[in-house]
Amino acid sequence: MSKVHVMDHPLIQHKLTLIRDKNTGVKEFREMVNELALLMTYEVTRDLPLEETEIETPICTTRSKVLSGKKLGVVPILRAGLGMVDGVTKLIPAAKVGHIGLYRDPETLEPVEYYCKLPADIAERELIVTDPMLATGGSASAAIRFLKQRGAKHIRLMCLIAAPEGIARVQRDHGDVDIYVAAVDERLNDHGYIVPGLGDAGDRLFGTK
Ligand code: PRP
Ligand code: URA
Repeated sequence: MSKVHVMDHPLIQHKLTLIRDKNTGVKEFREMVNELALLMTYEVTRDLPLEETEIETPICTTRSKVLSGKKLGVVPILRAGLGMVDGVTKLIPAAKVGHIGLYRDPETLEPVEYYCKLPADIAERELIVTDPMLATGGSASAAIRFLKQRGAKHIRLMCLIAAPEGIARVQRDHGDVDIYVAAVDERLNDHGYIVPGLGDAGDRLFGTK
């Protein structure tokens, strides 16, 4: 069973409250989503392996730690996941960025992939899938399934707000994928929106609606 990491750092909780507020405008919302992604990346990458290397300080030769060459990738789920990419790549500038786009078929309600462009070597990369909202979990579960079909082996999911239903869905479908969130909210409403949530993340990020 995958682990759920809820990040209760005061800075994360403070910024999350600001973006939940319906009076927060597009500019501030966008900036804070990226700041949250940056802060969360610090925790998402906490267990990356290290190795020792020899360096010379101005004083002497010493052994010190560096990341042990694990290659990273960020895969935003279009479109709202895009709002978190700059925050992640600020901390991991060498990360490659893939994109995956899904829409829900109105007849079958099944997620359909409409766009996918990934780094060629995703099988060797530690992938961080980003999406601000994990509601029913249908989008995240399908995106992870599509990534695995293309060879991805190491995937972490980073969301700002999750509903218990979405967490359960991803855990059921992808027991190997750890989930990192800033908050687990109460429930979904009849329209599949997270309560209390923050509304439609894509619309608030891009100023549509
Ligand atoms: C939102 C959100 C997730 C999805 C979550 O995207 O960014 O991708 O809904 O819902 P789920 O867990 O029930 O699948 P949306 O489909 O509104 O598209 P958008 O990013 O283009 O706004
Ligand atoms: N997608 C959103 O953008 N917000 C929700 O609350 C649920 C799905």
